[in-house]
Amino acid sequence: MTVQKIIIDTDPGQDDAVAILLALASPEIEVLGLTCVAGNVPLPLTVKNALTICELAGRSDLPVYAGCESPLERTLVTAEHVHGKTGLDGIALPEPTMPLAGGHAADFIIDTLRREPAGTVTLCPIGPLTNIAAAFRRAPDIVARVKRIVLMGGAYFEVGNITPAAEFNIYVDPEAADIVFRSGVPLVVMPLDVTHKVLTTRARIAAIAALGTPAAEAVASWTGFFERFDKEKYGSEGAPLHDPCVIAWLLKPELFEGREINVEIELEGTYTTGMTVADWWRVTDRAPNALFIRDVDADGFYALLTERLARL
Ligand code: BDR
Ligand code: CA
Repeated sequence: MTVQKIIIDTDPGQDDAVAILLALASPEIEVLGLTCVAGNVPLPLTVKNALTICELAGRSDLPVYAGCESPLERTLVTAEHVHGKTGLDGIALPEPTMPLAGGHAADFIIDTLRREPAGTVTLCPIGPLTNIAAAFRRAPDIVARVKRIVLMGGAYFEVGNITPAAEFNIYVDPEAADIVFRSGVPLVVMPLDVTHKVLTTRARIAAIAALGTPAAEAVASWTGFFERFDKEKYGSEGAPLHDPCVIAWLLKPELFEGREINVEIELEGTYTTGMTVADWWRVTDRAPNALFIRDVDADGFYALLTERLARL
């Protein structure tokens, strides 16, 4: 078994939390650290939530770093309307006691990429791309050392969830997204087009709750909270587990289907700032820069998630 070394860059967020638990439960993945960014809620809360999740998973040894508290060039937009005031509403968990690692998240990303052999570390951003772009700006030499970036962000057929045209992670920091999408690093993109297909139906969450572990109980409560927003908005049966798609792709890419296409980030649109302009139909001659995922075997995804959560 080849173990994939990853850094998860995150703004937890209930779906971020499920992604982190899925990674920590999977022996094929070595999480080198969590880097926190402002996004769903301000940085102090995303940091606190990341520590809480590590302790829930019994991984108080894992280094957790605080990163950028605001986007590169814009004012922070948050999503308490989806994730609640704490960002991790749904179940009361103990205040974390494990220490935060010293130093800035971007420096941890830089140091790790310089230390590890080139082409062996995958970056998994599941929040706004500020920390990744900050690291690339500060240390352009690391860009060529990244194996791949597998990220949750963007939308094409589903268009936007924070504006009519833009998905939240890209909208919050489009300049950072632009740096990442132009970096030349191989990208795998999980847009809303695929994440809206992995819905937390009652039966799927009941199967997780039946595991009866503290982690499973937390996942069931978080998704219960998080669901109400999408049920009201889309009339769907449950909520999309956006961020865990990133980890599921690393574990079982055969569950997903997409196309190698060109994706540009809209930076100046009057109504479309933060839109991922995806050339799905290849109507331009712009070179492909991303594997843009559109389809998933949702039952296979939940079977994987449930089996892994059982190990925590
Ligand atoms: C993305 O935005 C956040 O609210 C979620 O955690 C996910 O990363 C979905 O648009
Ligand atoms: Ca997220």
